[in-house]
Amino acid sequence: MGCTVIVGGFFGDEGKGKIVAHVAESDDPSIIARGGVGPNAGHTVISGKESFGVRMVPSGFIYEPARLMIGTGVLVNPDVLFDEINRIGHRVRERLKVDKRCSIIEQKHIEMDKSDARLKDKIGTTGTGCGPANVERVMRSALQAKDIEALAEFITDVPLEVNEAIDRGEFVILEGSQGFGISLFYGTYPFVTTKDTTASQIAADVGVGPTKIDEVIVVFKAFPTRVGEGPFETEMSLEESEKLGIVEYGTVTKRRRRIGYWDGKFARYSAMINGATCIAITGLDRLDPAVRGVTDYDKLSDKVKEFVSMAEKDVGVPFKLLSTGPGDTEIVDLR
Ligand code: IMP
Ligand code: MG
Repeated sequence: MGCTVIVGGFFGDEGKGKIVAHVAESDDPSIIARGGVGPNAGHTVISGKESFGVRMVPSGFIYEPARLMIGTGVLVNPDVLFDEINRIGHRVRERLKVDKRCSIIEQKHIEMDKSDARLKDKIGTTGTGCGPANVERVMRSALQAKDIEALAEFITDVPLEVNEAIDRGEFVILEGSQGFGISLFYGTYPFVTTKDTTASQIAADVGVGPTKIDEVIVVFKAFPTRVGEGPFETEMSLEESEKLGIVEYGTVTKRRRRIGYWDGKFARYSAMINGATCIAITGLDRLDPAVRGVTDYDKLSDKVKEFVSMAEKDVGVPFKLLSTGPGDTEIVDLR
């Protein structure tokens, strides 16, 4: 039991949502709480024939027995939150709690994010108001969730609820957002998001101290991607990525993602700062379409097995979750 943190190891969009859904379905958490910046994040969750994009609600919502929480550090846009609650069903309205101290994104923050030429063009932000809202939080003039009447039914003390659950011996998942490469501290500054994105930050966002974390799962992608501007050492040309059949668009901004090759050196550094205990790798079906949907290690192709063992040597942490497609059951679980 205990507490597992799941974070992105590259530049975001590694498929964390899918890994969270799988770990939830197999390990039975009583709470899934999200950390991270705010609604700049987009997670796609595919379950059966249904596909959902979420930006505020934890992507583990698909696992109905768990309660869902938004941690103190996360910025909340009430409009985005209500849209998701109304759209995705799954009893989210009854299951969701929001920490009373979450800072609120207002329309003015969105306007600032979208109209500032430097943010919009040089950095290529998501235009969701997260940066300006974090500025206001630091200036100590931001609204908090407890000040918003419409949120009253959701308000709680998330750290208290999460720590009490861990102390009762229940299993809790802390879900990160964004990825290591766009951490405000460790990423490719200034082409980064507006907060640290590593496992320590995600735990802090939810109010869980380092001694209570048992597992840190870092999610990598066989072919990393990046949206927005900034350095991307292993980036390939558009033509190359099309030849490989890889075309991706962002969940939030619909921008085309830049595609790159596996970067072992970067992955190792990312796993180190995240304190990874376990690696999840997604997109193995991109490397070899024949493995799509495989759930048994022995049925993976030699090409994929060789890639996984090479990448595992690069990182120096066991690769235990091998994702073979976007669906929540398309995964080899070696844990
Ligand atoms: P901001 O977080 O909207 O300020 O954007 C800053 C940078 O982080 C931009 O390059 C965004 O594309 C990137 N970014 C922010 N959130 C995500 C995410 O969830 N996935 C991928 N990139 C993101
Ligand atoms: Mg995303």
